Amino acid sequence: MTEAILLVGGKGTRLRPVTVHTPKPMLPAAGVPFLTHQLARARAAGVEHIVLATSYLAEVFEPYFGDGSSLGLSLEYVTEREPLGTGGALRNVASRLRAGPDDPVLVFNGDILTGLDIRALVATHAASGADVSLHLTRVPDPRAFGLVPTDTDGRVTAFLEKPQTPEEIVTDQINAGAYVFRRSVIDAIPAGRPVSVERETFPGLLAAGAHLQGMVDSTYWLDLGTPAAFVRGSADLVLGRAPSPAVPGRCGDRLTLPTATVAPDAKLTAGTVVGAGAVIGAGARVAGSVILDGATIAPNATITNSLIGNHAHVGARTVVTDAVIGDGAIVGPDNELREGVRVWCDAVLGAGAVRFSADQ
Ligand code: GTP
Repeated sequence: MTEAILLVGGKGTRLRPVTVHTPKPMLPAAGVPFLTHQLARARAAGVEHIVLATSYLAEVFEPYFGDGSSLGLSLEYVTEREPLGTGGALRNVASRLRAGPDDPVLVFNGDILTGLDIRALVATHAASGADVSLHLTRVPDPRAFGLVPTDTDGRVTAFLEKPQTPEEIVTDQINAGAYVFRRSVIDAIPAGRPVSVERETFPGLLAAGAHLQGMVDSTYWLDLGTPAAFVRGSADLVLGRAPSPAVPGRCGDRLTLPTATVAPDAKLTAGTVVGAGAVIGAGARVAGSVILDGATIAPNATITNSLIGNHAHVGARTVVTDAVIGDGAIVGPDNELREGVRVWCDAVLGAGAVRFSADQ
């Protein structure tokens, strides 16, 4: 049975401030820590042993997932003393692998929501005899990603990180953050120092003549690294557009956790999630958003495509669109927060303190 490593040690800087107290893989998406969806999907593909490579806020993973038996998994945790990067993290957990030197080991980035056919990736790896096989997906604008062109046999020909000029954009295939490694390749990564698998290991292997195989799979794929992507991914899980066996309850327009309180005339739409103990006031409208545990949304507030932190408060009539409110922040009534604004944890905004329009 194939085993897997999940990379969950990143700082999640692009998702700040909601990652100040919670590591990105533990942020709830569709009501459960995002990592739950990945673990459940790996289990459904037949994976039983998973090693979590932790670093940033490492102490929160094990108390939640324990030995993994509730998910039918055997989980192990390895924490880096200093962050070792994606490749260093793999080398650091190598001693926990049970696979033989030529056996396949799955590796997943901890922030990807995807319908990837995991068994097909393992089968491609076996059939091609590659040293490493990579899931590739196609995106319309590849500039924020690592490009991975392949030849007619699917063999990787180059790695181009974050290309900018039109000449550099030679393909729309990007590294989708799921791999199968021959176990001995992980053992050969240098130990005890930071290594980037994308910038150092893969280009180094290619230069040394190793066989890297790409598998293009264009099913649902989303990198949840930014606030806009995170709320979209959570909503897609709730709406049933993104596949996961771990969504609590049936898919629909909204998901309200059992201990939340929602006023009868509040409107929750477009895959909104209301977390445990959260309160949604009368006349509030919440669309495509994630309201984390214990947050309170006052009457007639309007929240759209936004992430509201644990125990944060949004005041009456306040409008929040495409924004992030940190844990414990208090946004007074009649504010207007738009377009990527980030209100830091525990910040306090007075009544009508921030407006976009001049109509106050
Ligand atoms: P940003 O800071 O917003 O770029 O997010 P990030 O820290 O998660 O970085 P990135 O999205 O590039 O990381 C890809 C995956 O590798 C994520 O699942 C991270 O958790 C993980 N990762 C990144 N750096 C490390 C590291 O030093 N150690 C471990 N164990 N995992 C890492």
